[in-house]
Amino acid sequence: MAVSPLAGQLASGQFAAAPIIAAAAPQGRSAAPAPESHAVAAMSWTELRAAVQDCALCGLCRGRTKTVFGSGAQDSPWMIVGEAPGAEEDARGEPFVGQAGRLLESMLGSLGLSRERDVFIANVLKCRPPGNRNPEPDEMRQCEPYLHRQIALLQPRGILVMGRFAAQTLLRTDATIASLRGRVHAYRVNGGELPMVVTYHPAYLLRNLPDKAKAWADLCLARERFGAGAPRPD
Ligand code: URA
Repeated sequence: MAVSPLAGQLASGQFAAAPIIAAAAPQGRSAAPAPESHAVAAMSWTELRAAVQDCALCGLCRGRTKTVFGSGAQDSPWMIVGEAPGAEEDARGEPFVGQAGRLLESMLGSLGLSRERDVFIANVLKCRPPGNRNPEPDEMRQCEPYLHRQIALLQPRGILVMGRFAAQTLLRTDATIASLRGRVHAYRVNGGELPMVVTYHPAYLLRNLPDKAKAWADLCLARERFGAGAPRPD
């Protein structure tokens, strides 16, 4: 594999893999499911895609050009979860096609992964927040059943979680990225557990270049736990 520019920035301390820890219990955030979550939890992939396309559960539907369901092969070994579509994603209906997406692709390329073949990419929010503002709690609450159903149907080998909003949604915690990254979490689904690694959002990395080394360490941890050579979770 070619030596990546990210690899060249790898922090000097060797990154130690930690054991899987149990998914955090809800802390300081409502754990109540959104009203439609039971119906969503029974949907097929086709039904889910159609439900997202027609969704009007929050006000973001009024400003969107396209919903952004996600992209990649359904049998991808990895799932990547980001925050919400930006302007380019809203226009094209695809996740991570802007500048942050180019960095993400370069990071994946450094691991020998292709976004079409090896990862399915989705966001917590399927519609663009106006002006690229942060997602609001109610928007995440309404949208999160779609993401949980995507994970349950895709059953990836593991999940790479990018950024605070995705991490806080999937782990049901208010903890910071700095405190969540660097270890493997567990996402409970279909009666089992999937390994989940939290890292910085590529948009954050574009503004904070020194943290790329930590992100690279997180990607290496993900590769170690759910990369090609790692055992498939139950
Ligand atoms: N940032 C995200 O979190 N998701 C996208 O799809 C694009 C930018």
